[in-house]
Amino acid sequence: MTEQEQILHLREQLHKHNHNYYVLNMPTISDQEFDGMMRQLQELEALHPEMYDENSPTQRVGSDLGNEFATVRHSRPMLSLANTYNLQEVEDFYRHVREELDGAEFQICCELKFDGLSISLHYEDGKLKRAVTRGDGTQGDDVTQNVRTIKSIPLQLPKDAGFPREFEIRGEVLMPWQSFERLNMQRERDGEPLFANPRNAASGTLKSKNSMVVAQRGLDAYLYFLLGDELPSDSHWQNLQEARKWGFKVSDKMILAGSMEEIAGYIDHWDKERKNLPVATDGIVLKVNSIRQQKSLGMTSKTPRWAIAYKFQAEQAETILRQVVYQVGRTGAVTPVANMDPVQLAGTQVRRATLHNADVMAALDLHVGDHVLIEKGGEIIPKITAKACPSAPGSLPIRFVSKCPVCGSALVRYEGEAATYCPNETGCTPLILGKIEHFISRKAMNINSLGPETVDDYFARGLIRDAADLYSLREEQLISPTLADSKSVRKILDSINESRDVPFERVLFAMGIRFVGEIAAKSLARHFGSMDALAEASVEDMLRINGIGNVIAGSVRKFFDDERNKDFVRRLREHGLRMSASREQEQLLSNILAGKGIVISGVFRHHGREEYKSMIERHGGKNLGSISGKTSFVLAGDNMGPAKLEKARKLGVRIMGEDEFLAMLADTGGPDATGEA
Ligand code: IVH
Repeated sequence: MTEQEQILHLREQLHKHNHNYYVLNMPTISDQEFDGMMRQLQELEALHPEMYDENSPTQRVGSDLGNEFATVRHSRPMLSLANTYNLQEVEDFYRHVREELDGAEFQICCELKFDGLSISLHYEDGKLKRAVTRGDGTQGDDVTQNVRTIKSIPLQLPKDAGFPREFEIRGEVLMPWQSFERLNMQRERDGEPLFANPRNAASGTLKSKNSMVVAQRGLDAYLYFLLGDELPSDSHWQNLQEARKWGFKVSDKMILAGSMEEIAGYIDHWDKERKNLPVATDGIVLKVNSIRQQKSLGMTSKTPRWAIAYKFQAEQAETILRQVVYQVGRTGAVTPVANMDPVQLAGTQVRRATLHNADVMAALDLHVGDHVLIEKGGEIIPKITAKACPSAPGSLPIRFVSKCPVCGSALVRYEGEAATYCPNETGCTPLILGKIEHFISRKAMNINSLGPETVDDYFARGLIRDAADLYSLREEQLISPTLADSKSVRKILDSINESRDVPFERVLFAMGIRFVGEIAAKSLARHFGSMDALAEASVEDMLRINGIGNVIAGSVRKFFDDERNKDFVRRLREHGLRMSASREQEQLLSNILAGKGIVISGVFRHHGREEYKSMIERHGGKNLGSISGKTSFVLAGDNMGPAKLEKARKLGVRIMGEDEFLAMLADTGGPDATGEA
């Protein structure tokens, strides 16, 4: 089965089980099996965004998997607005309203169009009763618990504020730029994917199953529409002023316009000024102010005739394309980037723009020297949207590269994915760095004193070639007069050291086997109990686990069949990382040091101290802190402390050098004895 077929199959199965459980009350599989299938589907869908289906079981995930919000019907449908993109269309709207109202006076309320997601709030006796997302306009998700954490939404209105007993107020939940930037910085540090814009971030947050997460993310809400049977006024504008008095956040940027000139002035003003607002806006909303007049204008099937949205033009600029270069990301994805003559756009000078992927690039049919139009969209990096004029005759067409610009490997495209990848996971620098970053990330080994820059620096200095090398780092290698003092180095080494206690399932996740996410790693670790058992497991063995399908099983098998990966695992083991669910299960390499107590002292050349400690344990020995009569021998590197040396001599304790020690272990069991090939 292809992954796409698996997705369809799982959806069908889950729909059936869902019905059995939730409707018929007669489940035919265990909750655990159900959860496993659901997780597998979630993982596959995450890999295949093009297979998105709003009716997928993952979109209404039941029980403790969370994300389940009750579906609620809106008492009045939540309409959207017709969009216009130029002043001409706004004038058409204005003229149409004037004609329909038959010469009666009218005012237009001009408002900012906030770029978040719309929300409907119901209040009874001044208490927030329910908060529902727009959904399909007829029904939405009950997100009351999450909305309660948004501090600018009042939960209880002041008693004598004069609000109606029952009313609905609608508005926009959004994430202010400041919260958005903070969140993305945090996610970058944690190795999590970034949100493209504040709207996506707000929407992802509001739909989080964990309202504590929502609470921490600093969402905000502006209210712009009051509904109910007993409203304070016929004026929409006046109603919002009242709502502000009741405690709602209502924008103070709205005006009442009495002419087309005023409307045009408002649009012009905010088209420029919106850059200085604390929240994202994507246009202007124009509403006939009198509710009586709104009613007489009525609506079309989908949108009211009394309101319209004017969408801001993304700012554009024209410049000349000089060259396309290719960036290899940390996942291996290769992104084409255009180098252009510098040009001013939305307040900054731009000389580079993304071309996203091979398909986008091919569609633009670019040639060197083309005049191109660039735009800043919802994303932070500008993009080329079109050629400003046909390419010059004889100009050089630009084709997507076939080889990795960093390592020269032939690039690949996986079925159903837009990106082109460098497949050289163990040999291409950005991929290696990406793997190390993943390894140290919070949910993996949680080596939190190390950041991506430090990792890059160690790699560039040749101190590490992969994540396993982190465990061989020594203090004297890391201290540098400009970059790191001994205190911060100590901190880094401590947190590397502490990570040796990270449970096996997270070690497995940290190794970065393709498709093995946190959940799959947990299932595999629990089922097989140890790295050795997993490394020997067949695809069929793995398929017996709930939540593990062909994609994951195949990838795990492939990983362990690769000699380079075997070597990587061997080295992690040697460094004392947990290779099984419990310590007892960890195999001893030999018993040659059984009953021996060993003290380590001095600076070593071949391995780090911690490695030697772990070797001692894995050969049955015990690490001792200080020399005494019970000490069997001292494993000594260079510059052993004079006090220790003296004490060892006095007690007649044998002193063994690094080479002799390694030779002894090598005698015990062939190549694996020290954990190294
Ligand atoms: S009024 C019937 N006012 O834009 C009128 N909407 O396509 C309902 N929006 O779904 C909407 N700012 O999410 C209105 N000041 C504003 C708005 C606004 C943003 C959003 C809202 C709505 C969409 C309209």
